[in-house]
Order: sequence, then C-alpha cells, then structure tokens
Amino acid sequence: MAIQKVGVVGCGLMGSGIAQVSAQAGFPTVVREVSKELLDKGLGSVFKFLQGGVEKGKVSQFDLDKVKENLKGTTELKDLADCDLVVEAITENLGVKKETFGTLDSVCKPETIFASNTSSLSITELSTFVKRPQRMIGLHFFNPVPLMKLVEVVRTVRTDPAAVEAANAWCKAIGKTAVNCGDSTGFVVNRLLVPYMLDAVRVYEQGLASRDDIDNAMKLGCGYPMGPLLLGDYVGLDTTYYITQIMFDEFKEPRFAAPPLLKRMVLAGLHGRKTGKGFYDWSTNPPS
Ligand code: CAA
Ligand code: NAD
Repeated sequence: MAIQKVGVVGCGLMGSGIAQVSAQAGFPTVVREVSKELLDKGLGSVFKFLQGGVEKGKVSQFDLDKVKENLKGTTELKDLADCDLVVEAITENLGVKKETFGTLDSVCKPETIFASNTSSLSITELSTFVKRPQRMIGLHFFNPVPLMKLVEVVRTVRTDPAAVEAANAWCKAIGKTAVNCGDSTGFVVNRLLVPYMLDAVRVYEQGLASRDDIDNAMKLGCGYPMGPLLLGDYVGLDTTYYITQIMFDEFKEPRFAAPPLLKRMVLAGLHGRKTGKGFYDWSTNPPS
C-alpha cells in the first residue's frame, strides 16, 4: 500500500495546508475544490504562505518550486482517480461528506486509501458510505497545517492494519508526528480542546472577564501560544460550532454544547479570521 500520489478534497483552511505539505514533501498532489474561484483562493493562500516563508528564510526557493511542480488543482473529483491516498478536508457536515465519499468510491481505483480530516465526525460512520471500509481512516491535521507537527491517525474496527501502516509512513514522510487512536468522537485532541474553547466563550458571555484578559490569562498563565478566543477565530467559529453540535449529539454532555453567543456569532456571519471578523477584527495585523 505504498503511497505515491495524493489527492486532497477541499482547498479551504485545512485542505490547502494538507495539499501544500504533501507537495512540499515531493508527492504529486491533486487538490479539488467546488469552483475555480475557491480553488484559486486556496492555492493563492498556499503560495502566499510559501512566499512568506522564503522571505523569512524558513522555506527554500527549491521547496517553493517543488510545490509549484507537484501541486495541481482541479474542480473534477475524477482527477483523483489514480491517487493512492485521498484526504478529504471539506466542510464539517455528514451529508456533504457522504455524497463526496460516495462519488470518490466510484471514481477511485480499488486500492485507494480514503482518509477524512474530520474534527468530530465518526470515521466508522464515514466508512459506511464506501464499499472499502477496510481502507477508510482518519487523518486529523492541525491548523495551521504547515506549522503544526501532529496528525491523529484514526482506525476503525474494520480498518486494515496495512492502511494504518501506510498512513503512518506517509505522515512521517511529510514531516509530521503521528499519534494513533481509535474512532471516538473528537479523537484525543478535540475531546480535550473543544470543552476548553467553549468554556472560554462562556466566561466571556457571562462577563467574567474581557476578551483580552481571558486570552492573556491562558497565554501568560498557562503558556499557551494563543488565547482560546483568538484560537476560536483562527479555527473558524463556524467550524467550531459544527464540531460542538456533533460532539454534543454524541456525548449529550453540557460541556460540549454550543454557548448561545457562539451560535449567534455564526448566524451573523462572524466566523473569525476567514470572514475578517469574529472575537477579533482581522482587517488589522495583528488582529485587534
Ligand atoms: N513559512 C515557514 N515558516 C513559517 C512561516 C511561513 N510562511 N510563517 C511562520 N513560520 C515559522 C516561524 O518562522 C516560526 O518558526 P520558529 O519557531 O522556528 O521561529 C514559527 O513558524 C511560528 O511562527 P510565528 O513566530 O510567525 O508565529 P507564532 O509564534 O505567533 O505562532 C502559531 C503561530 C504556530 C499559529 C501559534 O500561535 C500556535 O501554535 N497557535 C495555536 C495553534 C493551535 O492550537 N492549533 C490547533 C487548533 S485546533 C485544530 O486544528 C483541530 C481541530 O479539529 C479544530
Ligand atoms: P473551510 O471552510 O476553510 O474549508 C472547507 C472547504 O471545502 C471550502 O473551501 C469548501 O468550498 C470546500 N468544499 C465543500 N464541499 C466540497 C466538495 N464536495 N469538494 C471539494 N471541496 C468542497 O473548512 P476547514 O477549516 O478547512 O475544515 C475542513 C475540515 O477539516 C472539516 O472537516 C473540519 O472539521 C476539519 N478540521 C478543521 C480544523 C480547523 O482548525 N479549521 C482543524 C482540523 C480539522
């Protein structure tokens, strides 16, 4: 099950980063978006990041050229047909993922390993949408993908150990550290991280402290690289909200329930960094 060619579905925040690190590690990579406009936006962010890296002296011109050569964009799922691994990184919605995996199953070669970057959906449930459940895994990357070292490699009771082994080897080849875990909602990181982020919104909503004091408290008091409200903006408040709905539905525990403020911000289009406004105003650098 050696992985040579990689497909990525979705070129948003996560898909663009996954496609980048794959191409940068030398894997021919094809990334699919729903429209030319969104594809150009996603690929634009990849090259903006790499160009920034070159200017900072963190990325070599050789690596930038390697990505240009290895990374291809498409709006057609059939262009992923001969990939050895396809990583799905589309909107956190079961129905949309079901439809996408159903189509991928019919267009991809039988050997292709399917992976989902889902934050909270069940990999086992996703595996019921394809005729190759033994080749379905979770590959959960972290945002920003090019900088965060971890990938959670998730297996179901039906996953072939050879698929897990191939995925672990690929993660290593792209410079990531893999943590292996079973298929439980939120895996390891989001099981711990999501209640923390939601509690921060509740603390803010209850007027216990200001936005900046909450974020500074966790940065300076606990050594976190960014505070929880800034992190929510960074992850995307829409994505965070979808995750809470799925996790609450699974566990029925109040700590996973979306605070009313989060729901209202999402309804109002305040999705954080991606829409320019969330808890912070992202039109300034740094966000204010
Ligand atoms: N190319 C290459 N390297 C770059 C770069 C670029 N364009 N931009 C920055 N870097 C490098 C920097 O040079 C720096 O490297 P050194 O440490 O070697 O100096 C490093 O990346 C950090 O960059 P910055 O100093 O510019 O930024 P920072 O120190 O403010 O860190 C951050 C930014 C990495 C995002 C940090 O704030 C952080 O770790 N935040 C938390 C992120 C987090 O928790 N992510 C997980 C979200 S949850 C999730 O993803 C799961 C889910 O399902 C929702
Ligand atoms: P995003 O909204 O930035 O991007 C999703 C992209 O998928 C959009 O550009 C959308 O046009 C595209 N898309 C939707 N349907 C598609 C289809 N059928 N084919 C191709 N593209 C399609 O979202 P994101 O933050 O990148 O999240 C993507 C996935 O990654 C979700 O499952 C999310 O839970 C997970 N995830 C997110 C984070 C995070 O911090 N944002 C971290 C880890 C995992």
